[in-house]
Amino acid sequence: MARPRVFVTRIIPARGLELVREAADMEVWPDELPPPYEVLQQKAQKVDGLLTLVTDRIDGHLMDTAERRLRVISQMAVGYDNIDIAAATQRHIPVGHTPGVLTETTADFAWALLMAAARRVAEGDRFTHAGKWKTWGPMLLLGPDVSGATLGIIGFGRIGQAVAKRASGFNMRVLYSDVRRLPEAEITLGVEYTDLETLYTEADFLTLHTDLNATTHHMIDEAALAKMKPSAIVINTARGPIVDPDALYRALKAGTIAYAALDVTEPEPIPLDSPLLTLDNIIIAPHTASASIQTRNKMATMAAANLVAGLRGEWLPNCANPAVYAGHSPQKM
Ligand code: GLV
Repeated sequence: MARPRVFVTRIIPARGLELVREAADMEVWPDELPPPYEVLQQKAQKVDGLLTLVTDRIDGHLMDTAERRLRVISQMAVGYDNIDIAAATQRHIPVGHTPGVLTETTADFAWALLMAAARRVAEGDRFTHAGKWKTWGPMLLLGPDVSGATLGIIGFGRIGQAVAKRASGFNMRVLYSDVRRLPEAEITLGVEYTDLETLYTEADFLTLHTDLNATTHHMIDEAALAKMKPSAIVINTARGPIVDPDALYRALKAGTIAYAALDVTEPEPIPLDSPLLTLDNIIIAPHTASASIQTRNKMATMAAANLVAGLRGEWLPNCANPAVYAGHSPQKM
């Protein structure tokens, strides 16, 4: 039987590529920038599997290949809002993703941003590099304490809970909001379930860990920001469009809130003429929350395992649209 063909949309850690190479004839997009949509569409025509990243738009049109050979899409990320999941399910194409392996690393980074914003680390670094450090200053770069503050977490899945776990070392009061209440986690993590209103008004630090969907799109808008404390710090390591960037700019500029720390923006990358880049009270990282060496290796391996399973007609170990298996018995489709 002919070997399956796959297209990998960027160079990913070597172990992942090796696993794919063992199972298929593989083409890897070699550039730093993602393949343009038209190129991706052309490639999709000729392959059995795609290994994709958050930067690739994968819609139904792209899945409608002339030969109908595309059998699996494997995303090297936990989130998959760049993929039209309903379209994939309709076409019986399983979509893989990489949950779990990036939880701790992403929670670490949310904390790195939280601490850096509170204690103005990036600003201090810019200050030093600009030659402005003349003396120890009693009023220099003051920020709020993290210890003992109130942390609000929106989205209490794996990553939100890992963020809460870290907060106990800082004696924080932790509030969370989610579509479901988790009584067990409330006890083990010592957190309180609240409505959004309470969370917005009481949090000193507000961190976002929900997925992007119709409800969460621009949920941090002018009205939400207006409810927050003027000293509030907003952290986003989830998805850019959860925050309305224009409303955030106005709130940061006017002092409605104190600071923001973003790992994700709308759009990505943030345009160089974005007014957010003119502010001092913001930190913007280039979507690197999961970027530890170990975690990226695990993500690549997991994405490869999903892809290979799909090529073999087996159930994906981590499938974002298990509805594709409805009516099929486990393992072999
Ligand atoms: C990264 O943003 C991911 O969803 O894994």
